[in-house]
Amino acid sequence: MQTSVNIVLLAAGLGTRMKSKMAKVLHCAGGMPLVEHAVRTALELAPAERIVVVVGHQSDRVRAALAPYGVQFAEQTEQKGTGHALLCAREALAGHDGLLLTLYGDCPLLEAATLRKLIETQQGAPRAATLITTRLDDPTGYGRILKDAEGNIAAIVEQKAATPEQLTIREINSGIYCFRADLVWKHLGEIRPDNPAQEYYLTDLVEIFRRAGLSVGTMHVEDSGELLGINTRVELAQVDAIFRERKVRELMLAGVTIEKPETVTIDHGVRIGRDTIVEPFARILGKTVIGEDCRIGVCSIIEDSVLADGVQVGPFSIMRTSQLDSEASVGPFSRLRMENHVEAGAHVGNFVELKKTRLGPGAKAMHLAYLGDTSIGANVNIGAGTITCNYDGHKKYPTTIHDGAFVGSNSTLVAPVEIGAGSYVGAGSVITKPVSPDALAIGRSRQVTKEGWAKKRREKLKPGQ
Ligand code: UD1
Ligand code: CA
Repeated sequence: MQTSVNIVLLAAGLGTRMKSKMAKVLHCAGGMPLVEHAVRTALELAPAERIVVVVGHQSDRVRAALAPYGVQFAEQTEQKGTGHALLCAREALAGHDGLLLTLYGDCPLLEAATLRKLIETQQGAPRAATLITTRLDDPTGYGRILKDAEGNIAAIVEQKAATPEQLTIREINSGIYCFRADLVWKHLGEIRPDNPAQEYYLTDLVEIFRRAGLSVGTMHVEDSGELLGINTRVELAQVDAIFRERKVRELMLAGVTIEKPETVTIDHGVRIGRDTIVEPFARILGKTVIGEDCRIGVCSIIEDSVLADGVQVGPFSIMRTSQLDSEASVGPFSRLRMENHVEAGAHVGNFVELKKTRLGPGAKAMHLAYLGDTSIGANVNIGAGTITCNYDGHKKYPTTIHDGAFVGSNSTLVAPVEIGAGSYVGAGSVITKPVSPDALAIGRSRQVTKEGWAKKRREKLKPGQ
């Protein structure tokens, strides 16, 4: 590109039609805030120091969401419309000329290739601006494109200001413009809030340029899909579905089997290796990375976790911020709450909950257990119903179970406590003191059997006696 391009992204509005306490651009589609999608696209075209995001509503949260990208910010303290928002970015871009690309924060499907074409179109033409238009079957809510007798764009009329006749126009403004920077700064101040919403409409620049004898061009895009703007939660769901579809398609083409892909939810940042099978209704979220030859069971939810090759996740398992090493298996119905590490070949079975727990290589906790703040060594067997009592209502305490130990069913391990390597804990024990290596610890009352007692009792209680 010969001419330098600066990008302004408008993201200060509340988004009244979302009917939300949260700013519209923070709502997620495809598992990522709308504004983040737009910023990532912008970064394909310009370095971070040439991108200015105009923030206003919940600006702290928007700034925080975008902090990793290093883009610039400008504040629009009062939301007086898109024209006013652009004006707020002026100072941040002082001294830059060339081209100015403006994008809206609520149009996340837009692709960099389309913007490149827009920039090229504007670059080669002697005019003040080029904007992207498209045709929609239902243009409700969008600005309509008015043409002059020669078929050139004459003005954009917003939904609220349009006459019934203008409302039938199906060619709409996408909200994406490429301006000559010097001309936009020269004329931006001429926008007046003379419309029913009393806002400064950026779209008025079309008429303003034309009055000044400058021409404005359009670039018509046939496939309107990527220009969809989000104003309501219905549109949010539609765009989210498009992102989900794109993501599963990309994964399938890269060698991942996805059964009933229309039911699966996989976030933008997720990576999955070849020959892994994802069963219906799985949700794989956040920054999860899954290796090759894994199986992710029906209705499982995996968030911000790392799964090595050959990991099996049985149906209805839930995990967050956990790491599963190769050939580990969890589920069905396991819950790995947070920060767990299931090492190679270890097994976690049904109705087992882990929290901040490590299971060493080959260790097993197959049924009905709670293991919290626990470090479990290699090849340990945790019997059904084992509970670590890690909380005294005030503080959390650790449990350590060393290699090769066998914890009998229904044991209660009162932390802090340590179970030595190769030791046995008898079933039903309450363990409050350390168990030394290779020892047997039994912490329960001895069984008493009274021969014939039940029979005698029955006889005593026989009716009529
Ligand atoms: C806008 C266009 C409309 C176009 C549509 C495409 C105007 C006047 N209208 O309408 O022609 O068809 O987008 O999606 O531009 N914003 C601010 N500050 C403000 C107001 C808005 O930063 O004071 C930001 C919003 O956060 C949003 C973007 O600008 O990201 C667009 O605002 P929105 O209110 O959604 O505009 P539309 O009514 O959709
Ligand atoms: Ca919009």
